[in-house]
Formats: sequence, structure tokens, C-alpha cells
Amino acid sequence: MSLNASCIYLMVMLRDAFSPPPPPSSSPLTSDRCKEEAVASSFSTECQRRNSSQSLSFIMAPSVALLLVLLSSAGSLPPPRTSFLLNSADRPLPLFSDVQNTTTLLLSDDGSTLYVGARNALVSLDVSRSEDIKLKRKVDWRPSDSETEICQHKGKNAEVDCPNFVRVLQPLNSTHLYACGSYAYSPHDAYIDAESFSVVQQDGAKGRCPFNPFQRNTALTVDGELFTATTSDFKGVEPQISRHLSRDGRPDVVQDSSVSLLEEPTFVSSSLDPLDRKLYFFFSEVGKEFSFVDKLQIARVAQICKDDIGGKRILQKKWTSFAKAPLLCQSPKQLPFNVLQDMFTLQPPEGSDASETLFYGVFTSQWSLGPESAVCVFKLQDVRTVFTQSYRTFDMQTHQWSPQLEKHSYLGKCGLENASDSVLQEVKKSFLTSDSVKPVRADQIVVSSEQRYSRVAAMRTQAANGKQYTILFLLSESGFLHKVVLFERGAHVIEEIQVFTQPQLVKNIILSSSKGVLYVGTSEGVTAVPVAKCSIYRTCGQCILARDPLCGWSQTRRVCTSLDASHENLAQDVEGSNVEEHCPGQTKRIRNTEFFVHLNEAVKLRCLQPSNLANLTWTSNPIKTLSEEFFIQSADGSLRFLASADTVGTYHCEAEEDGYKEVIVGYNVRLNAPPRSMSPITKAEQKPNNKDESVEEISLEEEMTKPSGNPEDYTTKDESDEVTTNLKDETISTKEDSGSEKNFQDSSSDFAPTSRKETQFRKELLDNSQKMTKVKSYYSEMVVVSLLLAACICALILGGLHMWRQRKTHLKMNPVVSPQDSSKNQSMESVPSLSSPEDPEVKVVE
Ligand SMILES: *[C@@H]1O[C@H](CO)[C@@H](O)[C@H](O)[C@H]1NC(C)=O
Ligand SMILES: *[C@@H]1O[C@H](CO)[C@@H](O)[C@H](O)[C@H]1NC(C)=O
Ligand SMILES: *[C@@H]1O[C@H](CO)[C@@H](O)[C@H](O)[C@H]1NC(C)=O
Repeated sequence: MSLNASCIYLMVMLRDAFSPPPPPSSSPLTSDRCKEEAVASSFSTECQRRNSSQSLSFIMAPSVALLLVLLSSAGSLPPPRTSFLLNSADRPLPLFSDVQNTTTLLLSDDGSTLYVGARNALVSLDVSRSEDIKLKRKVDWRPSDSETEICQHKGKNAEVDCPNFVRVLQPLNSTHLYACGSYAYSPHDAYIDAESFSVVQQDGAKGRCPFNPFQRNTALTVDGELFTATTSDFKGVEPQISRHLSRDGRPDVVQDSSVSLLEEPTFVSSSLDPLDRKLYFFFSEVGKEFSFVDKLQIARVAQICKDDIGGKRILQKKWTSFAKAPLLCQSPKQLPFNVLQDMFTLQPPEGSDASETLFYGVFTSQWSLGPESAVCVFKLQDVRTVFTQSYRTFDMQTHQWSPQLEKHSYLGKCGLENASDSVLQEVKKSFLTSDSVKPVRADQIVVSSEQRYSRVAAMRTQAANGKQYTILFLLSESGFLHKVVLFERGAHVIEEIQVFTQPQLVKNIILSSSKGVLYVGTSEGVTAVPVAKCSIYRTCGQCILARDPLCGWSQTRRVCTSLDASHENLAQDVEGSNVEEHCPGQTKRIRNTEFFVHLNEAVKLRCLQPSNLANLTWTSNPIKTLSEEFFIQSADGSLRFLASADTVGTYHCEAEEDGYKEVIVGYNVRLNAPPRSMSPITKAEQKPNNKDESVEEISLEEEMTKPSGNPEDYTTKDESDEVTTNLKDETISTKEDSGSEKNFQDSSSDFAPTSRKETQFRKELLDNSQKMTKVKSYYSEMVVVSLLLAACICALILGGLHMWRQRKTHLKMNPVVSPQDSSKNQSMESVPSLSSPEDPEVKVVE
């Protein structure tokens, strides 16, 4: 069914996207016309009957197209260059945790106060210093015990549903704020004196915010009037876009209820077009114009005129200006992303026309199997245009949509309060546009095939080259904030910052681009994330490679610093990341670390990736002369091998990123004279795994030499190879490293793997390489094991044949899993783990 649905939707969307709108003049129902009709008006049966063979081929073609679509993969966002886990030392985030369930955020005009609506509370926070958040005032705003009890009697949970969750917090006038809360499933509103931060008045407020704290809503105050989009009933099934607190004696206006203007919408955000005196509401809803597809979601923008007062006889106190249009977020030849998650309004640069206002929308797809999302950008001008063009008409009898054959210039216009009854009758049933609003650049849609983004904020910034760039902040469902810079040739994910650990339903972000701070509201409180922390890049190379328009390298002070805090010329190359050109003579000299090892000791040399995008390469003389099998490169970049006369020498780990190579660390591996102290029983002997003679011997040797070394360097013996070498490594690097290298390692110690999947993958790789260490990468053993395996498989096949024969003769035999079967599985599983998986990031140069 869902494939079928996507098939039809695809065909509709492809038609929408690629064919010109139908001519407004009425044309005879040619077969082509019939196709149009069929799609637009839910396969009108007349059409189908008249042209059944044609519509069949029309359905067939898209299924082929769908296949092609599913096979071709879109260009997706690259992984974040650097990653910071929550509370990392390099990217510390101040957290205000005195409130729970931060449901609304509002910044004061001067950016120094952050107003927060939360569970049973309203707070004002002093955010004038970006490095901390201080509580100014807190107002308790909670339902009384009896009100909570009533809520419980209605079948709601006292803890989960019945607190007061503040869902609207908006400036009302110069002195007061307006708030609306779910208030024990009985919405209430409040007027707050912003100065003293006290509630001056509170009332019941049906229709201004939802009863259900888990339902989304949006609201905007304009000139002291409140425009809201929310469900307005206890059950949460009656959507309502309305104006409240109307001024100058004009009536409050709601939407017409004689037709269904909205179909199970999820409101996401709203925006004001001050020039056109219109408000736009963004949401997803069921696309009833495609009634042949069950519950098909469509992203939409709806408009209403700010000064609409309703009609004279028809549409009294109802919107005469309500209209809605589909928002199409679709890369060429891909399935559309049809569910809107969030929409951010980016104001035009100063001095530009308001029509340059951009809307950044985060979309997901109804059909996604994994985390996946897209960002589409729409221009205000395109939204305006769509509402002036042709509309579809809703047939009240058949409940179906058909394209309007005649264009009515008044549809979608403001100022219809004196319009005639016939005009308003037409308005009542023609509120869906024929065309969709299309993204500014369909070929530049930002798609992530790994992240499900749920919130977006955007800022413009001027880079050192004088060009304007847009930076997006995308909050993923899993709690990571991705900072993405958009280039003409694709996007670059500068960093990811973890802002919460528990997945949550309610979260908010608000960006103060003037202060350079993004505030995130979560269940745990409010966090402030500085838009950039340039000092985390400690070398010129790293500063350039970050490609962050907000950061540049100061040649005089030799620091990576914020562009707007600095008046000197900073080195930056956001599009080219050419380090050689911008960091002349800045290459870091690496002093080799002396590394003493004992004969036959398992050695691990560490090399920390400076960024997730860097490729690490180990070079050394032993690697050149010996075969690669003597060395194991872990996914974390470290190199492991067994100390021998052949493997001592100098080792260098080099990182390559964007064509720039930098030696990260160098080691001088030297042999200690092997002391002898016999211990008669070794753990290696007890290990059941070690069947091969040579391995046992080596383990024994290792066992004997270890305790005689520096005892501080070693923990207990046995499988703690990793710990021991790690410890040793660290001891040495702190003792003997030059300061620069230590800093460098510190700076990268917080870089986390990109995704949890990757962590798992890396862990497996590590496990594999640990196993490999145990077999000491001895080729001979590989051969033995392979032979054993081959023998095993032969035996199994023979056994299987035998059993199959037996089964054939005794048909009634019980179905048992024989021990051979399970051993077969095991041996099959062990095959891939023995062949060391190729690590994409690390390679050995001969
Ligand atoms: C702002 O609104 C409040 C509440 O309606 C009202 O009491 C107050 O007088 C208004 N202030 C101004 C300056 O209009
Ligand atoms: C509608 O009519 C009223 C009175 O007849 C007039 O004052 C008002 O300006 C008219 N509105 C428009 C948009 O024409
Ligand atoms: C409030 O936060 C808690 C966790 O602290 C969460 O379980 C709950 O779902 C949240 N409620 C709402 C309405 O978001």
C-alpha cells in the first residue's frame, strides 16, 4: 500500500514539478486534459471510463520512474568535521536547569533577556553574558489542586498531562507579555508585566493554545493582536486559525467551519509579511486533494490577511482571505519530503527588499525507513506569487477538488469585507492553490540520509573574502546540533555539538545572530550554544580546514579567532581550504617521541584524528621493508605491531584532509634489553584459544618480559594489551612531548565518532584487531586456520548431505538443530572477522 501510495504521489508530484500549470482557459476534455483531471480530481470516474487504456499506461510509467528514483542516490550531507559530546571541555555549554519542559523561548529586543515558558513556570533569564545564564525572575504558574483533580477525572495523567505547559509566549505591547498554557487540559492565558515579571491577569483561553501539551501549535502577536494556529477542543481534533485581542473594535476572526479548511494539521510555525499585511502559517496535513491515497501528508503554507474582519452576510467574522498552498521539497527525480518539521524565517539583509525574505524548512518523508531529512529554502516572493495564481475548487457534494476553469482575480486577496455574496461564495470553496511553492533551487536541496532533523535556524554572515554565507543550525532528533555552511557547490558540516541526550518531544531553538548565541530549550532546561568557538582550532591548518566563515587565523597573534571580534586581516578560505596558501611557514615541527619496548611486546602507537574528515597514514622504514601483515591499523588510527628487531625504527602518523598533509605524531620505537624472570604458569597456557604452538610460545615470552618492565606502565596481564600500551603511551607523551603536541591531543580528545552506528563499527574493528594481535598476524597461522576452515566446511557439507539423505528416508524425524549446524554457523561467522576488514580511514604506505 505505501509503495503504491508513494507511486501515485510521486507521479502527482512529478507532474506538479515538471509540467507547466494547466492553461486557465477551458479546453475540451482531450485525452491529455483527462490525465490532468485524473490526477487533480482524484481520478474522476468519467475520465477513467473514457480512456482506461491510457490511464493504465500513465500509472505504469511512474512505477518505472519510482524504481529509477529508488535506485539513484541523492548527494547527502557529509559527516560533521568535528564532534563534541555533551559537556565536552572544548565546547562547554552553560545550562540553566531550574525549569523543566522548556516549551517556549522568546528573546527581548536587545537580546539581553531570554523569556522562557516551561512546565508550571515562566522565567526571565539574564543572557547578556554569553558564557552563562542567570535567573532574573521566576513566576510559578500552575493549576490548583482542584483543577488538577478535574483534569484527572477527565482521564488524564496528573504528572504527564495536567501540569500547565506554556505554549504561547509573545510580546503584547511595550510593557507586557502574553502567555497561554495548557493549564490542566483547560487552556488559560496570562498577561505578564515584563518589568516586574509578574502575572497581572489570567483567564480561560479556549482556542489560543492546545489542551493537549503534546500537540504542536504556533502563535504570533502583531500590533497587540494575537494570531494563533492550534487545535481548540479537548480531544484536539478541531484545528483553528484565529485572531484574538483584536484592536480598534474590530471583531475577532476565526475560520469558516462549514467546510473543512484544514485536515488534521500539525502546525509548525508562523511568519509575518509586513508589506503585504499577511500572515503565513506553516504546517503539514492530510492532502485531501489526493483522496485516492490514504492519509497522504502534504506540507503547506496558509495565508490570512492581518486586517481581515470577515464578510457582511456570508463569512461573518470568518476569514475571507484564507488560502493554502502545497510546499514542495523535492530534489530532481527523488521522492518528495512531504512532512514539515520546522520553518525558520530569515529576514532579508539590511537594505534589501522584504520579498528577499527566505523560509528555511526542515522536512522529513512519510516513507522514510531510516533517519532522513531535507532542508528546502523558499522565497517570500514565490509564496506571494502562488497565492495570486490559479486555485482549485472544492465540490461540496462529491467532496472532491477540481481545477478552476476560470481565474478569479479576487482569490487570495485582502480587503474582501465589502465583497458581494457570489464572490464570497466562490471564496468559501476555492482556498487551495493549483500550484505548489517550489524551493529557490531544487538542485540545491540539503539532504541528510543519516539525520532526522527537527528544528532549524539560519544566519547570514560575511566571510573574510567579503562574501555572504548562510549558516544553518540543525537540531537532530538524537540531540546533536549540526552547524552547516552552505556553498554554491554543496554544504559542509563544520561541527556537531550534543545538546541533550534523551530524545524529546518538546524542544525549541532560538537564534540571536547579533549576539552569536543559539539557545536550546529542552526537557532539562535551557542551554546556550555560542555559534562559534574558534579557539578550539589550535593550528593555522586546522583553522583553515574548519572552513568556518565565523573563524579566521591571526598571523600576528597565532590564534584562531572570531571574525567579528577582530579588526586585523584574518586568514580564511571557506571555499578552497587551501592551507599552504594561507598558512605560509606555519607547518608544525613534530619532535619524535621516544618509545621503549620489549622484545615481542604488543606495541600500540596512538594517533588521534584531528577531524572526522582526515585520513590517517602511517609511514616508517619497518613498514616499508616488512610486509603489511605485521602491522594492524585500528579504526581509531592507532598502529599495532609486535616489537622485534625488525620493527624498531621511526614511525610517523600523517593526516590528510582536503589535500593538506600534516604529520600528527612521530615515534622513535626502540628496544629495551629483554630481562629474564621466569614464571612457570602463564595465563596463555590456560587460554583455550591458543592452539597454535608458535603463538603460545610468543605469549609466554611476552608474559615473562612484562612484569620486569616499569611496573607503573602496566596493569594486570592478559587481555589488557590495550590498557597497558595506552598507559605507556600516555606516560611517555606527557613526559617527553613538546607542549604543542600535548595541546593538540587534548583538543582532539573530545572529538567523538560521528554516529553511534560508527561507534559500533569502530568497536568491532577494534575487537577484530585485538583478535588479530592475539594471532600476531602470523601468516602461517592464517594458513592453518584457513585449512582447518576448509576442512570443516567440507566435513559439514558431507555431514549435511548425509543428514539430508537420512531425512529423506525418515521423513518423520524431529527437526533438531544438530551441533554440526551450529558449529557451521560459528565457523561461517568467524570467516569475515579473520579477514581484517579494510579500514577506509587508515592505510599503510609501503
Ligand atoms: C499593554 O497591555 C496591557 C494588558 O492588556 C495593558 O494593561 C497595558 O496598559 C498595555 N500597555 C501599553 C503601554 O499599552
Ligand atoms: C467597506 O465599506 C465600508 C463602508 O461602506 C467602508 O468604510 C470601507 O472602506 C469599505 N472597505 C473596503 C476595503 O472597500
Ligand atoms: C516533560 O519532560 C519529561 C522529561 O523530563 C518528558 O518525559 C515529558 O514527555 C515532557 N512533557 C512534555 C509535554 O513535553
